[in-house]
Amino acid sequence: MTQTNLFRNRPVAVIGAGVMGIGIVQVALLAGHPVHLYDVRDGAAAAAAAQLAATLAKLADKGKLTPEDVAAARGRLSVASSLEELRDAALVIEAIVENLGVKQALMRDLEAIVPHDCVLASNTSSLSITAVARGLALPGRVVGMHFFNPVPLMRLVEVVSGLATEPAVADAIAMLAADWGKTAVHTKSTPGFIVNRIARPFYAETLALLQEQAATPSVLDACVRGAGFRMGPCELMDLIGHDTNFAVTQSVYEANFFDKRYQPSLVQREMVDGGLLGRKSGRGFYRYPEGGGKTEDGAVETTAMPVVPLVLHGGDAIADLLASRLAASGLGFTRESADAGTGTRLAIGQGWLLCTDGRCAAERAHALGVADVALFDWPVGPAAAGSTTPVVPLAWSVAAQASAEFDARVAEVLRALGWLPQRLADVPGLVVARTIAMLVNEASDAVEQGVCDAAGADAAMTLGVNYPAGPFAWLAQFGAPATVHLLDALDAFYRGERYRVSPRLRRATWGTSATAA
Ligand code: NAI
Repeated sequence: MTQTNLFRNRPVAVIGAGVMGIGIVQVALLAGHPVHLYDVRDGAAAAAAAQLAATLAKLADKGKLTPEDVAAARGRLSVASSLEELRDAALVIEAIVENLGVKQALMRDLEAIVPHDCVLASNTSSLSITAVARGLALPGRVVGMHFFNPVPLMRLVEVVSGLATEPAVADAIAMLAADWGKTAVHTKSTPGFIVNRIARPFYAETLALLQEQAATPSVLDACVRGAGFRMGPCELMDLIGHDTNFAVTQSVYEANFFDKRYQPSLVQREMVDGGLLGRKSGRGFYRYPEGGGKTEDGAVETTAMPVVPLVLHGGDAIADLLASRLAASGLGFTRESADAGTGTRLAIGQGWLLCTDGRCAAERAHALGVADVALFDWPVGPAAAGSTTPVVPLAWSVAAQASAEFDARVAEVLRALGWLPQRLADVPGLVVARTIAMLVNEASDAVEQGVCDAAGADAAMTLGVNYPAGPFAWLAQFGAPATVHLLDALDAFYRGERYRVSPRLRRATWGTSATAA
């Protein structure tokens, strides 16, 4: 492991003066490097330099930089009019068009110009670093340095090693990223690297639920926000842009030889084809009137029901959560140990309210021989807090066999327990449980395949896409047996490759650690 930042104060060249290039230049300048900026498009680098000067001036106005810092940073930036002007660079970071042939050609051109110890980094988000380095005389110095947008604000940098990348080069880049105030996570060059791979199910599960008409986008978003995510999948896809989000999904799918696990969604395809790209086109899952915020749909109705006896069975964490919320609700209840074979349940009169285990409510009703069965989602994050304030959305469903009275009563009980019940169709794994189980599964496969370690996966997902917790933190919370049980139930229901359990996760159900690297 390199102990010092070999690049400190040495010249950095950034190629590509687009969204990412400008951000990288800003970070490098403020870290004290002389920076060359080059773009093949006439005037693009000069325009970017002017834009950057305005950004720095704004930061000074806000008191985040001194006028001296700004002047010094501006003085360190030079706009290059040819690649030859980058010849003194210790590090080149390319952020040009996402095209393998163009990136390979650029790397070949650079080899003839820069010194032999200059590191060549690519900000590619989807191309293989092994392929980018192919055909070079010194492929060992090519490494991925994958920043996240907006670069000055996002703390994660994925340091991507291709087959030829020298470990010392990857370590030196990780050290540099740390010096730039970023958290570097090492990853192997595999489709989607860490973040864009592990995040796929976050979108895919909701898109699958929409295709099955399980609920509206706003209901699904509310449930996922209730688990602590800053944005629900639909509003996040609207923000990213459906064209971009679909392209990433498609590239991960294709790069995995069309593994059905990563299959893109017809729902999203239709939106892209129709130009419903999200915020940028004024309409995606939601409408964005010019100058206005997003418009919501869906309101929760309330009804008053006669009282029935409530009996809580079970002694696990879910039972304890229900007990604390029942106590806070003022609803009278009694608590008993779990019945053999049924686990935790809240008996509501003759009916049963259970936490999802990945089976439909109808299937459980059938198996139990009880018509009145309803399910609630895994309580996660805010929804798992013992307190009933603030009121947090929670998905639930009811068996087709259940009576209308039981159906209404469950909603009433969930509201009394301090949740905002969000009714889904009777889909297995509801929304939060299946999404989190799938994130854990994908992360387990990434670790199994040596893409990253467990700590790296957790850091990447919390810093790269602001998840409220990392997949392995969730695994620690829910345990491998419950997670695998849920995925197996989904697999049995849907039959296909999507819910195939990661070997690492399955082994963890037998007591081995899924988090060991
Ligand atoms: P952009 O389209 O905003 O900017 C690309 C710039 O590169 C343009 O100014 C273009 O004139 C220039 N360019 C194209 N070919 C060139 C060449 N041969 N030599 C010199 N300059 C050339 O693109 P953006 O979004 O900044 O993306 C750049 C790279 O960063 C891509 O590889 C992309 O996949 C990656 N990336 C993008 C992220 C994003 O959120 N936009 C996030 C992380 C990575």
